[in-house]
Amino acid sequence: MNQVHLIQKKRDGHELTDRELDFLISGYVSEEIPEYQISALLMAIYFQGMTPKETATLTRVMRDSGIVLNHSAISGFKVDKHSTGGVGDKVSLILAPLIASTGLYVPMISGRALAHTGGTLDKLEAIPGFRTNLSLDELESGLEKVGAVLVGQTADLTPADKKLYALRDATATVNSIPLITASILSKKMAEGIDALVLDVKAGSGAIFEEKDKAWELARMLVGTATHFDLPTTAIVTNMEQPLGNAIGNWLETKEAIETLQGNGPADLVELTFALCAQMLVLGKKVETVAEGFDVLQEKIASGEAFDKFLEIVELHGGDTSVVKNPQSYPTSEFKFEVKSEKNGYVAGLHSREIGVTSMALGAGRASVADGIDYTCGILLHKKVGDSVAEGEVVATAYSNSQDRLEANKAHLLSAVTISEEKPPIEPLIYARIDASGEAKWDSERKAFG
Ligand code: URA
Repeated sequence: MNQVHLIQKKRDGHELTDRELDFLISGYVSEEIPEYQISALLMAIYFQGMTPKETATLTRVMRDSGIVLNHSAISGFKVDKHSTGGVGDKVSLILAPLIASTGLYVPMISGRALAHTGGTLDKLEAIPGFRTNLSLDELESGLEKVGAVLVGQTADLTPADKKLYALRDATATVNSIPLITASILSKKMAEGIDALVLDVKAGSGAIFEEKDKAWELARMLVGTATHFDLPTTAIVTNMEQPLGNAIGNWLETKEAIETLQGNGPADLVELTFALCAQMLVLGKKVETVAEGFDVLQEKIASGEAFDKFLEIVELHGGDTSVVKNPQSYPTSEFKFEVKSEKNGYVAGLHSREIGVTSMALGAGRASVADGIDYTCGILLHKKVGDSVAEGEVVATAYSNSQDRLEANKAHLLSAVTISEEKPPIEPLIYARIDASGEAKWDSERKAFG
């Protein structure tokens, strides 16, 4: 086979065969095919797309580029969640203990901060001592003992995705629906799970701003998972404003702890419960989403979900005393308050801009080798639709660098819009999509009021 002919074939809009895709991706991972040719292939895919069959093959080849975990020694049902990424999204920190407290297993492989979005691993590592680099043996024994582990991708797991993602990032080919699909599903399938729930976000802080693209991605993810007989449910959700009130690593971990203790912000609770309820349905713990909500509420109210989080932190070597007493955690030295200049309503909290600002305050890395300042970030005191009085604080930015705070003030101010009229409120959750079809979330939501 000749890679130039295959690139040309894709460039001209033809379907690549299983053998051809295998040849290209395996050749790239083994370094027999150079980066510049795979860059050209990625751009051809970006413009020409891929058929469902090609997307499924790419997913399989990427999954099989490394080891596929096998938890057959653990007899329970293993299920995971993936989010396409957003601002203030600390759902995984709440969902993993919540689901484990119901008796299902969550072998979660998570990522780090990327562009304007935070990463689950960075949020967990805000807890002193928390190790996300468990060995495969530790992962397996921890999963069996506690019911949930949250670890980083290793060199053994989907190395093709690791290489391709970095190349896509550098060649402006990230936003391709088949490439995103193969990237997400190959990683999740390598976890050795029995079912998957997906949070596909749309809006200013999401991978796709346009709702129709998010829908297309959700359908492609569910359709591709069906090729592998992996029961999968996607929900399409709103990422126009950040999720919850906290943005920044420790601030988000603290909000996750509060949510596990029954004091979470409404939107964060609703989305977490919606995703968890789908997991409980897939894992046959409940028959309906409404029943799922009852179970979840009970696990929070009884303290079992929070206790499970403490067990997870202990398993990963983290300091449980800060989890039990979050007030003991250090705070940033400097702060800046965004105050409303008039009476009115919060009409917009631009997710992407708020995410970018939080990163620039010190919550993110400018390069892979950079450290993170866990204490800095942004707290929102109001959400879209809330009324606000002149002079009232809408958001507070925290940093340990006065220079960074000064440099980002204008940016943060521009992310907040105040209007005189109450703005129309978009739903947080638009729809649920699975192999049997699509449903508006509103109709399901009514079941639990
Ligand atoms: N998340 C992933 O894991 N991969 C993508 O390509 C995009 C988002």
